[in-house]
Amino acid sequence: MTTVRVPGAARLAQGETRVFSWPSPYGEREGFVIRFGEDLHAYENKCMHLPIPLDYGDGDFWFGAIERIVCKTHGATYRADTGYCDDGPCEGTSLNRFDVEIDGDDVTVRVP
Ligand code: FES
Repeated sequence: MTTVRVPGAARLAQGETRVFSWPSPYGEREGFVIRFGEDLHAYENKCMHLPIPLDYGDGDFWFGAIERIVCKTHGATYRADTGYCDDGPCEGTSLNRFDVEIDGDDVTVRVP
């Protein structure tokens, strides 16, 4: 396990996200921290339908009208509090989720 510091992520507003990355033996991996209500969550930026990023590289994961994380490619929707996919081609699966800790204005994320 490795810890990644995500500067300023503790101050995110509802639905706002902050992207982070970390090295792995298989290349660089990417994740994001998202604020949902009082809580912060961290997930890998990888859809459970195809192994591609959820966003288009723009750090935009949130569809506020339905309060879901959305995969831009085929529209899978994921709950922000659990990462569970409740609609779309990968319904019933869940995003890779990581533990977060608040450290002042920053967030630390434990990644594999
Ligand atoms: S790649 Fe995400 S829904 Fe198809």
